[in-house]
Amino acid sequence: MSQTNEKAVLTIDGKQIELPVLTGTEGHKAIDISKLFDEHGITTFDPSLGSTAACRSTITYIDGDKGVLRYRGIPIEHFDRPKPNFIEVAWLLIFGSLPTFAELRNFRNMLTDNELIHEGLRRQFGDLPPKSPPMAILSAMLSQLACYHEKFLPLGDEELFGEAAARLISKVRTIAAYSYRRSKGLPFVYPDPALRYCANFLHLMFSIPYQQYIVSEEIEDAMNLVLILHADHEQNCSTSTVRVVGSAKANLFASCAAGVSALWGPLHGGANVEVIKMLESIQSGGLKPEDCIKAAKDKDNPFKLFGFGHRVYKNYDPRAKILRAVADRVFARLKTNDPLLDIARKLEELALKDSYFIDRKLYPNVDFYSGILLRAMGIPTNMFTVIFAMGRLPGWIAQWKEQHDNPNQKIIRPRQLYLGNKRTDYVPIEER
Ligand code: SDX
Repeated sequence: MSQTNEKAVLTIDGKQIELPVLTGTEGHKAIDISKLFDEHGITTFDPSLGSTAACRSTITYIDGDKGVLRYRGIPIEHFDRPKPNFIEVAWLLIFGSLPTFAELRNFRNMLTDNELIHEGLRRQFGDLPPKSPPMAILSAMLSQLACYHEKFLPLGDEELFGEAAARLISKVRTIAAYSYRRSKGLPFVYPDPALRYCANFLHLMFSIPYQQYIVSEEIEDAMNLVLILHADHEQNCSTSTVRVVGSAKANLFASCAAGVSALWGPLHGGANVEVIKMLESIQSGGLKPEDCIKAAKDKDNPFKLFGFGHRVYKNYDPRAKILRAVADRVFARLKTNDPLLDIARKLEELALKDSYFIDRKLYPNVDFYSGILLRAMGIPTNMFTVIFAMGRLPGWIAQWKEQHDNPNQKIIRPRQLYLGNKRTDYVPIEER
């Protein structure tokens, strides 16, 4: 982000304050208020940080008005290609450029070397209640990785960081699959070192002893693409959480475990589960699409059209477009259809011609079609957000690394607007 000669002038309490204006290689200008409090004792107010650039970043760029998303400058549409490769994109996001053949091979080998989880950690799954929410398991087990990999806790060693990143990406896949096996009371199977990342995940999910799950090419490609499309998304809620925790010099495992907890929220990564619940309630006759639209517009009704709207996109989420096309491809390959897809299409059609949604620029977001596609691949609803976390993990790691590589990074500690009591005295309980 470069400083221009342009200044912004703030007039307050009869004085004028000149503030530097910053510009990036793309996107909006920024007024640098970082010294405003120290030099003038004034703060700004932006509780959801919707008007605040919280960092400098070179990883991902979104143009919300045009529906543009690029990873290190590459439009995400370029990854919708034959043999999409999630691990290649993970490397791109974390290390800044597309890997060479040797880099990709070595990274893949590191993932394979780290696909098992410690038997002590694996045994803990057996003590969890079968109905444990997979996102609770993921967050807890991710934190616990710090207990088994203490050498990765100190910061600053590039070599160790690369190993820690590979461990995390590989083990989160195993933990995710094991959380599913636990919920089904199924025996655990072990990762197969001969399989690539997504094929190994599906093997861990669906193989049973003496009956290996054979992944079709289309399903493996679709899973790679789902993870790629979720891999990073600028300073979204969970990524900002990772940065806040990481700014205290917390280790990578703890920072990403915090990201899992933020992603769990139904307004964020949990929306893909809510979309399926919404579509199923329409399918069961509980609701008609028109009822959904009406409920979503009713201010007295807390119902939201899940999978619609976005803090940044005021156009069609480019990821939703690709996911919808991939769902069509997968259904064609499986020679099946899902009535929920027809219902989703009907909802989209009604919303996109309704002035409530048009006026508020509410379009389908990444969650609107992702659940339908995951269902087509046999993934149960309670695993949707876990898959989102698996996809977003390289983005969290990349953003955490970018923050730690910045020598000027300080602990993130916002101010507040105090609306509480003025000074008052303690009143002993006998006098209250
Ligand atoms: C993700 O930040 C990211 O990048 C997130 C993400 C990522 O990759 O990390 O893209 C992933 O979280 C996608 C979003 C998934 N969430 C949902 O699908 C939940 C449903 N969507 C809404 O909750 C909402 O759209 C948000 C939370 C996504 C965005 O909220 P905003 O931008 O803060 O919008 P808002 O709440 O200020 O709403 C503006 C208006 C309001 O109406 P008015 O007060 O102006 O009359 O639009 C309405 C809202 O009521 N509105 C909706 C709506 N979303 C916004 N009304 C009905 N249904 C909706 N879905």
